[in-house]
Amino acid sequence: MLQDRDRIFTNLYGRHTPGLTGALKRGAWDGTKFLLEKGRDWIIEEMKKSGLRGRGGAGFPTGLKWSFMPKQSDGRPHYLVVNADESEPGTCKDREIMRNDPHLLIEGCLIASFAMGAHACYIYVRGEYIAEREALQRAVDEAYEAKLVGKDNVHGWPFDIYVHHGAGAYICGEETALIESLEGKKGQPRLKPPFPANMGLYGCPTTVNNVESIAVAGTILRRGGGWFAGLGRPNNTGTKLFCVSGHVNNPCNVEEELGLTFRELIDRHCGGIRGGWDNLLAVIPGGSSVPMVPADQIADAHMDFDTLRGLGSGLGTAAVIVMDKSTDIIRAIARISYFYKHESCGQCTPCREGTGWMWRVMNRMAEGRAQKREIDMLLEVTKQVEGHTICALGDAAAWPIQGLIRHFRPEIEKRIDQYSANPHSEPVRVAAE
Ligand SMILES: Cc1cc2nc3c(=O)[nH]c(=O)nc-3n(C[C@H](O)[C@H](O)[C@H](O)COP(=O)(O)O)c2cc1C
Ligand code: SF4
Repeated sequence: MLQDRDRIFTNLYGRHTPGLTGALKRGAWDGTKFLLEKGRDWIIEEMKKSGLRGRGGAGFPTGLKWSFMPKQSDGRPHYLVVNADESEPGTCKDREIMRNDPHLLIEGCLIASFAMGAHACYIYVRGEYIAEREALQRAVDEAYEAKLVGKDNVHGWPFDIYVHHGAGAYICGEETALIESLEGKKGQPRLKPPFPANMGLYGCPTTVNNVESIAVAGTILRRGGGWFAGLGRPNNTGTKLFCVSGHVNNPCNVEEELGLTFRELIDRHCGGIRGGWDNLLAVIPGGSSVPMVPADQIADAHMDFDTLRGLGSGLGTAAVIVMDKSTDIIRAIARISYFYKHESCGQCTPCREGTGWMWRVMNRMAEGRAQKREIDMLLEVTKQVEGHTICALGDAAAWPIQGLIRHFRPEIEKRIDQYSANPHSEPVRVAAE
């Protein structure tokens, strides 16, 4: 179990004040100037040494990402953009940081911006997060007041921080759509290259990082990259916020060591599976966009990037959605398909048309009103969407269906048989039709 002394988010549950006085007591802003004095290269090297992989979903190494920013400015300003859009279903960790430990985030923004030569940082907050935006803005105001940030701050690096409120579109969490939205345009992903490190916000070098990736930076540097790298497993280091929802006895957010097993996570923190371990059906381990893993494969699997990828899924945002045997698994995936159809920005044909098509077929399959040969046709269409779109929303729409067919094809076939035996049975209702 993660020792209390290794916990980064010591106010995750909001038991103490989120304000500056409390944050200072908990260790935020401790020796920040000293860290900056060690220089940009030291900070980036230490972040690389920590092995931190981005917490926004893709798991890209954070130190490496920071090193992609130009060392010298060519006259254009550099920007840090913090992704607080947090719209991946099941994910609810960044909001707790903004509500309860906002100073860790603000300090991280200063450090990361300094390391990348940025004097301005934008935090893009999900549209529905009104209380969180207010809490974060309060903390930013406090930091300005105490001269921790601002043009003339005690750290000697002129630095402004802006909290920007989105309008509630999932696609604005994709980093280039987020940049478009910040620029005041419709939030639609850009084709890459050019990558944001060369041409991001207002055409200037920009790095986009998730809230959690930035909020852990101060503690990592204070305690040393080696400390963080000593937690977790090789190539999957450090602590991580897990958001566990669904059919467990106590759904919760918890900071744990990356790479603990699923069983440890659930038994230690969630009071076990509802109805016991024999009642577990499947788990979506990384937010709704990753393929599900059936009970027998997930129970003793390590919850980290590499193990879950090896199981044909992913750690994603570590939003662990647990489904017991009472779940109508076909209907559950049909509901997820609806979400991606609804959130597609419509720019590329395979995604715009494919998400709607996949959802309609999934809906029929949830009722059993389909032909068995359509299962392979559906699988084929998911392959045509996957990897053929501007952004990864197309993949996100395809993967849950692929996971369903991979692990639960007999269930789909059974549903079709049941319907053909009794075609006038009650339709299975799929929410949000
Ligand atoms: C459709 C879509 C939605 C995304 N939503 C989020 C989000 O809400 N929050 C987030 O941090 N990253 C999200 N991402 C990933 C970002 O594009 C980007 O990779 C991430 O913010 C990088 O941060 P990291 O390197 O710290 O992980 C999304 C990606 C896609 C394709
Ligand atoms: S994949 Fe979908 S969401 Fe992404 S750019 Fe294309 S249409 Fe828009």
